[in-house]
Amino acid sequence: MTLSKQWTGIMTCVGLCVAISASAAETGVADPALNDMGVLYAEHCSSCHGANGDGQTALNLNPPAKDFSSFKVAAELSRERMVKSVLNGRPGTAMAAWRDRLTAAQIDGLVGYIRTSFMPAVTTETVNEGRRVYARHCSVCHGDTGKGALWARSGLDPAPANFTVPRTVAALNRERMIASVAYGRAQTAMPAWKGRLSDEQIEQTVDYIRYSIMRLPSDALHQAAGHVPAGSLSGQAGHDHDHDAHGPDVLAAPLPHGLVGDVNMGVALYQRNCVVCHGVTGDGNGPRAYFIFPKPRDFRAPEAQAKYSRAHLFEVIAKGTLGSEMPAWNKVLTDAEIGHLAEYVFKAYIEKDGVAESD
Ligand code: HEC
Ligand code: HEC
Ligand code: HEC
Repeated sequence: MTLSKQWTGIMTCVGLCVAISASAAETGVADPALNDMGVLYAEHCSSCHGANGDGQTALNLNPPAKDFSSFKVAAELSRERMVKSVLNGRPGTAMAAWRDRLTAAQIDGLVGYIRTSFMPAVTTETVNEGRRVYARHCSVCHGDTGKGALWARSGLDPAPANFTVPRTVAALNRERMIASVAYGRAQTAMPAWKGRLSDEQIEQTVDYIRYSIMRLPSDALHQAAGHVPAGSLSGQAGHDHDHDAHGPDVLAAPLPHGLVGDVNMGVALYQRNCVVCHGVTGDGNGPRAYFIFPKPRDFRAPEAQAKYSRAHLFEVIAKGTLGSEMPAWNKVLTDAEIGHLAEYVFKAYIEKDGVAESD
């Protein structure tokens, strides 16, 4: 896992820093500046922030001192913000202003010490993991650029959150986003991801959305990410779609019996009946898929892309596949319901504009 690799890095750093301080104390060599800062920190800051910067002390501060070792805090605290907070304090908290007690150079050094000794580096790897998860699991509805995939904008009610609209950005703080991604949004197509993604992955994906799509400031992430432009994802999510292979005539075939499918009803039916095997993103990796052979069909594979018209989908969903675990759904669902499902699978996973962003 990428983060654990980073953690190894940080732990090595912490170990190293301690080693350096220890050897400096013994021999008087090594990095005197770092050593001084360690002493200064122990003297002035550790009573509240803890010897390891995690805020673990006997004090019962409200609000508590920030846990510098958490990924969340690291993502939130830019160097500039930290310097400013130490200079001016944080009104209404135990964090006092230090500008009259420490020099600017000392404050700068302390912040550097905290960042290198305690805070996880928010690096490209982290951003990449968030980007990977987003491309794989979220872009099908939210679109590569976070505006909402075309099919979903007109097809889902409510439409997926548009992460590029200022009002949405303002309404969504990090905690709420994490909760929404973990538990889903009731009565909407937004699925719950807890159990399918690790807590770490959920946080990384939310941070990816916040910094690369919403463009919220975080010096750490932005520098590390090399300003990953929103939209540079194209090619990760949708690229297994060989659009040239779409026989337009083949794919245009409508539902039989004059049925008209409703995407919203389709999403709900899909989540209730199909996700366990075909997965939220239609890739055939639902929670049950692991135990099944042949594997559930991946709707995003080129063969599927080339031939799954609404008519074809209706047919195969209704009849099932003999000798496999794919049930014949006409035993359970009405034609209308199968129509909704075919419409949803078609719009979400097959149709060109369903996944690719055109703007
Ligand atoms: C008396 C307790 C106390 C001491 C001593 C203290 N802090 Fe803090 N510090 C806090 C608390 C509480 C917060 C959380 C404030 C908040 O939630 O906004 C905090 C927050 C911070 C932050 C993050 C501010 C932000 O922008 O969110 C930094 C950086 C920081 N302290 C650095 C230091 C440094 C460096 C020292 C030593 C020079 C120090 N603190 C000493 C209690 C303390
Ligand atoms: C099947 C379509 C679909 C998929 C897949 C999907 N979303 Fe959503 N998402 C939605 C819809 C619809 C909403 C709007 C819900 C609402 O209005 O409350 C939404 C809303 C959200 C919100 C805002 C929630 C709030 O609190 O208002 C976040 C954040 C979000 N999605 C993140 C993600 C992430 C991250 C992923 C991938 C891990 C993902 N979504 C995958 C359909 C989807
Ligand atoms: C118990 C697991 C399971 C469930 C639940 C399930 N499927 Fe399948 N599905 C499969 C498997 C396995 C295959 C692949 C069969 C094969 O390769 O021969 C498949 C294949 C398909 C195919 C392609 C068939 C073809 O001939 O090309 C479609 C379309 C499909 N499923 C749609 C759905 C829909 C819609 C639902 C929900 C109403 C659903 N499936 C529920 C396991 C499942």
